[in-house]
Amino acid sequence: MRYKTLMTAMALCLMPAAVTWAAQQAPSSGHIAAGKAIAKTCAACHGTTAASEKAGVPYLAGQHASYLEKALTAYKTGARSNKAMQAAVAGLSKQDMADAAAYFASLKSFSARPPQPGQAPKTEADRQPFAAARKLTAMCAGCHGEDGNSEMPATPSLAGQHDAYLMAAMQDYRKGTRGEPMMQGFVKPLSLSQIEDIAYFYAAMVPKKSASPGKGDPLAGIAASAPCASCHGVDGNSSDAKNPRLAGLSAEYLIAAIDEYKTGKRKNAVMHDQVVTLRDRDVADIAAYYATKQPRALPIRKPLTVGEWTARCNRCHGAKGVSTDPRFPVLAGQDEAYLAKAIELYHRGTRKNALMYAMSFLMTKSDIKTLAAYYARQRKP
Ligand code: HEC
Ligand code: HEC
Ligand code: HEC
Ligand code: HEC
Repeated sequence: MRYKTLMTAMALCLMPAAVTWAAQQAPSSGHIAAGKAIAKTCAACHGTTAASEKAGVPYLAGQHASYLEKALTAYKTGARSNKAMQAAVAGLSKQDMADAAAYFASLKSFSARPPQPGQAPKTEADRQPFAAARKLTAMCAGCHGEDGNSEMPATPSLAGQHDAYLMAAMQDYRKGTRGEPMMQGFVKPLSLSQIEDIAYFYAAMVPKKSASPGKGDPLAGIAASAPCASCHGVDGNSSDAKNPRLAGLSAEYLIAAIDEYKTGKRKNAVMHDQVVTLRDRDVADIAAYYATKQPRALPIRKPLTVGEWTARCNRCHGAKGVSTDPRFPVLAGQDEAYLAKAIELYHRGTRKNALMYAMSFLMTKSDIKTLAAYYARQRKP
C-alpha cells in the first residue's frame, strides 16, 4: 500500500511550491498594541517573550503573522484539535486573533531555549541512509550477514524479507511469544522505532539465493507446495507483506520452521493447520523447491538522507527552515518536541494538510526525529 501511494506523494513533493499553493493570503490586519494585551493570557504557556520554557509548546515570536492567524483559526474551527489551544482561543474574536498574530510576528527572537541534546545527526556517517539501522544491526551481522544474507544454514536470511513480517517477528521475540531466549535477548532491548528501522533496512537489501538447497527433490516440491502458493506465492515470493517470503531461504531453516509449526513450538494457528499433515519427505521436497527459487528484491526505495529530505522541505520552508514566504511557517529554531509532534500529526493525517501529508506519510519514526532535531538546531539570522 505504501508503494502505491508513493508515486502520488513523490509527484506532490517535486511540484514547485507556486503550483501547489495557488492564492497568496491577504496581509494581516492585526494591531500590534492590541495583540500585546491579548498575549498576556498566552504567557503561562508560550512565555512572556513568546519563548516558551516547555517542551512541546511552540515558539511564536518572529513567526509569519498570516501563518499564526491561520493556526489560531484552525483551533477555533476545530481543524486543529489541541485542547489547551482550543480553550485559549475560545473567547477570542477574529480581530483578536489577527492582533495576537501581528504582535507575536513582530517579536524578533524566535528561540531562546537550546534544543534538547542527543538526537541531532553529528558525523558524516550519521547522515548516510540506514545509518541508525546499520549501527543497530552490527551485532546481528555475525549470524544474519552484514546485508541480511546469512551464510549459516540454520540462521534465516533477512535481506529482501517483507518489513511488515520482520516487524511482527521481532515483536514476537520481544513479547517472548516466539523463539529461543537467545533471539529474544537480542531484540528485547530494542525500541519500537528501532525495530521499524531494522525491518525497513533488511527489507531494502537485495536478497541472495541460499547456497543450501538440502536433500529434497525440488521437482516433487512443486506439487507438494501447491497449497502454500495462495499465501507465499507460486515461487515463494509472496506479495502480501504479512506472509514471509520463502524463496531462496535455506532448506535447513525452512524445514526447522515447518517442524516447529507442526509441534507447536512456534505458535501460529494458520501455519500449524497448513503443515500438520505433511510427511517428512514432502517437507524436504517443499524446502528444496523454495530454496532453489530466486528471491526477488522488494520495491523499497533507499531512505533519504537528512540533506535529501531538507532539500525538499526547504523549497517551501526556506533555506535551513528560515522561511521568508508568509505562506510557509518558519521551522528554524522551533521547539524540537513540538516539531516532531507536528510532523507526526501530519504523518498520521490527524493534523489535516494535503501538502504536509504528502511530504510526511512516507517518513519513518526516525526520519521524523532527525528532521525535528535538524530544524530545531537551525538559527534565524
Ligand atoms: C495552556 C497552555 C497554552 C495557552 C494558555 C496558550 N497556548 Fe498556544 N499552544 C499551546 C500548545 C501545547 C500548542 C501546540 C498545540 C498543537 O500541537 O497543535 C500551542 C500552539 C499554538 C499555536 C500554533 C503554532 C504553530 O506553530 O502552529 C499558536 C499560533 C498559538 N498556540 C497561539 C496562542 C495564543 C495567541 C494564545 C493566547 C491567546 C495561546 N496560544 C495560549 C499551549 C498553550
Ligand atoms: C547468534 C546468532 C544470531 C544473532 C547474533 C542474531 N540472530 Fe536473529 N536469528 C538467529 C536464529 C538462529 C534465528 C531463527 C530462530 C527462530 O526460528 O526463531 C533468528 C531469527 C531472526 C528473525 C526471524 C526471521 C524469520 O524469517 O522469521 C529476525 C527478524 C531476526 N532474527 C532478527 C535479528 C536481529 C535484528 C538481530 C540483532 C539485533 C539478530 N537477529 C541477531 C540467530 C541470530
Ligand atoms: C493462509 C496463508 C498461508 C498458507 C496457505 C501457508 N502459509 Fe506459511 N505462513 C503464513 C504466515 C502468516 C506466516 C507467518 C507466521 C508467523 O508469524 O510465525 C507463515 C510462515 C511460514 C514459514 C516461516 C518462514 C520464516 O521466515 O520463518 C514457513 C517455512 C512457511 N510458512 C511455510 C509454508 C508452507 C510449506 C505452506 C504450505 C504447506 C504454507 N506455509 C502455507 C501464511 C500461510
Ligand atoms: C509544498 C510546500 C511544502 C513542503 C515541500 C513542505 N512543507 Fe511543511 N508546511 C507547508 C505548509 C503550507 C504548512 C502549514 C500547514 C498547516 O497550516 O497546517 C507546513 C507546516 C509544517 C510544519 C508545522 C509547523 C508549525 O509551526 O506547526 C512542520 C513541522 C513542517 N511543515 C515540516 C516540514 C518538513 C520536515 C518538510 C520536508 C520533509 C516540509 N515541511 C515540506 C508546506 C510545505
